[in-house]
Amino acid sequence: MQRLTVHRSPPLRGQMRLPGDKSISHRALLLGALANGPSQIGGFLDSGDCLATLACLGALGIRIERHGRTTLTIHGQGLRRLQQPAAPLDCGRSGTTMRLLAGMLAGQPFTSSLTGDCQLLRRPMRRIAEPIRCMGGEIETTDGHGPLTVRGRPLHGCEHCLPVASAQVKSALLLAGLYADGPTTVHQPGPARDHTERMLAEMGAAIQTVGLSVTLWPGRALSSLSTQVPGDISAAAFPLVAAVLVPHSSITLKGVGVNPTRTGLLDVLAAMGANISIDNQRTLGNEPLADLTVRASELLGVEVRGETVVRLIDELPALAVAATQARGTTVVRDAAELRVKETDRIAALVAELRKLGACIDALPDGFVVEGPTPLHGVSVDSWGDHRLAMAMSIAGLVARHGVCVENAQCINDSFPGFVEAMRGIGAAYD
Ligand code: S3P
Repeated sequence: MQRLTVHRSPPLRGQMRLPGDKSISHRALLLGALANGPSQIGGFLDSGDCLATLACLGALGIRIERHGRTTLTIHGQGLRRLQQPAAPLDCGRSGTTMRLLAGMLAGQPFTSSLTGDCQLLRRPMRRIAEPIRCMGGEIETTDGHGPLTVRGRPLHGCEHCLPVASAQVKSALLLAGLYADGPTTVHQPGPARDHTERMLAEMGAAIQTVGLSVTLWPGRALSSLSTQVPGDISAAAFPLVAAVLVPHSSITLKGVGVNPTRTGLLDVLAAMGANISIDNQRTLGNEPLADLTVRASELLGVEVRGETVVRLIDELPALAVAATQARGTTVVRDAAELRVKETDRIAALVAELRKLGACIDALPDGFVVEGPTPLHGVSVDSWGDHRLAMAMSIAGLVARHGVCVENAQCINDSFPGFVEAMRGIGAAYD
């Protein structure tokens, strides 16, 4: 799928099951590898990013059996049985893989290197290297980026104050903290996703969260997991926004993870006037999930900043598309982190949405959209970013003529089967 062509859509109808949550799938692999005994994982996301983590763990001596695409057995060996990899670990395009593995490897009795493709090697890595060095770790970056060399060292417990709310940094420090000689505390400036804390608690780790601070006490073995990964709300964002925008649509997204650190998009769309109902709330493993029913709605512009941004950071490309069809001004601030995602998502959104006729301006830490604007058909580029590719394809559903998304194969990084899933609710994807 190099090029994806999308046509103006008839009403979207029906039900969709989402692929497994990407963040939780990575963590199930990594923590399962450190557990005492085999872990059973269902609903695993077999996307490019998670498969990079899986391959790296194989190179560290962990046997992972796949029973079909989404069910796995991870043969955990305990905390101290990883093997020195024979070659650099290839993290592909996955920031989660590189950052979390760096934390996990910092306290091992061997040296390893972490590399990836050129898109990943542009992303900032000092944010993990510096705090891990405070714990006595030895991580060499390449001018602040990957490739990384991690020389395993005895680690000390440490108190960290994070300058940005990042679940990857927090998780890297907690993973390093499993190998430290005392407690590790992470103070966050905002509520970054807490899947690592939830999974560690489920596995019997001594971990406590008070407000925005998390403390992990090392020393306990991790018990194995038996869990089903909930549907990914970040994947759900695209059909969800599509159904809000395409007139007369009504769809139900089944089994979506609704962890409160991830539901900012639902809150913001509701504030814009979207008709979304959250039903059948339940818990799976240590994570909440629900079914989301979404109906086409008239939207109003809104201001999004602060803590809410942390809770919808990956959904901002989808929200930007919604904002082009909302009446009035939508302003997103406090989202400078968007500049260091898979690509500079502020620059990419402004460049590509303008090609479709949207009225959008960049801010240093966000963007401003004036709406509603009719969108017209044209060719846009994904910038190699899965979320940009899916956001642009959603814009195509309400554009006057078909939109062509170039370089759309990156969609497989997080949502394999996206095109088929969208067709299943009636969207006209070629
Ligand atoms: C992720 C954390 C977030 C998010 C990314 C996945 C994770 O990044 O944007 O897609 O799985 O921990 P940051 O940690 O950089 O905020």
